[in-house]
Amino acid sequence: MSSVLKLFRTTTFRLALVFMALFGTAAACAIGYIYWQTNVLLNRQLEQTIEAEVQGLAEQYRAGGISNLAKTVANRSLAAGNSIYLVTDSEGDRITGNLTSISRDLWNKVGRVEFVYNRPGQKGSESRLALVSVFRLKGGFRLIVGRDIEDRRVFERVVQSAFILGLGFMALVGLGGGWLVSRSLLSRIDAVTATSRTIMEGDLSGRVPVVGSGDELDRLSENLNAMLDRIEQLMVGMREVSDNIAHDLKTPLNRLRNRAEAALREKGGAKPYRAALERTIEEADDLIKTFNGLLSIARLEAGASQGAMEEIEAAALIRDVVELYEPAAEDKGLSLRAESAEGVRLVADRQLIGQALANLIDNAIKYGGGDIQVSAIDTGASVEIGVGDHGPGIPEQDRARVLKRFVRLEESRSRPGSGLGLALVAAVARLHGGEVRLDDNEPGLRAVLSLPHKTNHNGSVGAQ
Ligand SMILES: Nc1ncnc2c1ncn2[C@@H]1O[C@H](COP(=O)(O)OP(=O)(O)OP(=O)(O)O)[C@@H](O)[C@H]1O
Ligand SMILES: [Mg+2]
Repeated sequence: MSSVLKLFRTTTFRLALVFMALFGTAAACAIGYIYWQTNVLLNRQLEQTIEAEVQGLAEQYRAGGISNLAKTVANRSLAAGNSIYLVTDSEGDRITGNLTSISRDLWNKVGRVEFVYNRPGQKGSESRLALVSVFRLKGGFRLIVGRDIEDRRVFERVVQSAFILGLGFMALVGLGGGWLVSRSLLSRIDAVTATSRTIMEGDLSGRVPVVGSGDELDRLSENLNAMLDRIEQLMVGMREVSDNIAHDLKTPLNRLRNRAEAALREKGGAKPYRAALERTIEEADDLIKTFNGLLSIARLEAGASQGAMEEIEAAALIRDVVELYEPAAEDKGLSLRAESAEGVRLVADRQLIGQALANLIDNAIKYGGGDIQVSAIDTGASVEIGVGDHGPGIPEQDRARVLKRFVRLEESRSRPGSGLGLALVAAVARLHGGEVRLDDNEPGLRAVLSLPHKTNHNGSVGAQ
């Protein structure tokens, strides 16, 4: 499609045309009305002037007959201005007056007549328009009284040309404006189309350009970009999950398979088979757990469980989870202590926050040591739930890495676990608009789940 045709087919250009037609009609009506009214007014004035002249001359005629009338006309003709006078005899020959000659046609008419006459002007004789009244008098005499209305003709021509020029100019400006506006709009729409085409071709990194004018197209572009960001994030997440499944679950599955195969080869009767089957079930359970963990994280990252937000008492939540882990801590000879968190409240998904806190406490028991303190404080902007231990901690350079799926530090590989605990905590934090911080507890690790206060749908602040 040629670009001109494309421009013509844009909504803006069509709108510009419609508006131009509407404005054109309105302007034509306005000018027509003004012209008509002016004509009415001028005509009335003209009629009155001619009428007054006729009245005066009729009086003279009544008083002194044709000779008196001819005298008056001769007098008035001397300073006639735009007035026109003529008195003729019955043959049509001029007796007096400032009109030199008249046509037969005019001669035969009676009453109001509009005609073109010649008058000496600056450039010789010029033909001009006149409006006169023709009277037949006794004895075949004629009296012609009227006014030169050439100015009216000029006025008409001026109005006509102003009308045509004005409409032409409006059409030109309208078309030009429509073309300019449509072209800039079209170029921006074309940019959006080009971006969507790149994305359709598989390059998810394409973004719609934002001009910075803050207009509705900019807002649309920003929203589209935000949507693309989200889609890209989800796609990356999905790709990561499938990569993880391919790499990290393949090894345990292979191990499981090899163990089953080795057991089959053994010739020891039911006992070793049973033992091998029990190991297989254990490993399958671990695998199922890992799968479930991965699925939970993927679901959280897709923003699936955002509906279950409720107001939570931090102290009660901490108490419940700590109670659950106390036996495990005691088994390892560790002390697990909840610091006072009275009055700290937050709006969050209770189950997810409980799961995240459980993961942090589980890590502190597994890898940490010494005293484990669990706390919750309200900083004003957010609620920070912290789990601190006095174990070896995590070196600073590894702190960002361990939040990723399946990342386990070298020294922890001998312990059970799949490396998904902190990834889940991070996903829970992200879902709540917060973050996970791994700080130095000097010595040990202090993991902090920071959840910002949000206004809930009632407009009140979620956690105080
Ligand atoms: N409190 C801690 N002290 C020292 N190292 C830690 C601590 N918490 C986590 N880590 C390190 O971070 C790694 C990742 O922890 P994460 O909770 O994600 O996985 P995991 O505990 O190994 O497995 P899972 O939680 O899935 O059972 C751990 O393997 C461990 O190396
Ligand atoms: Mg863990």
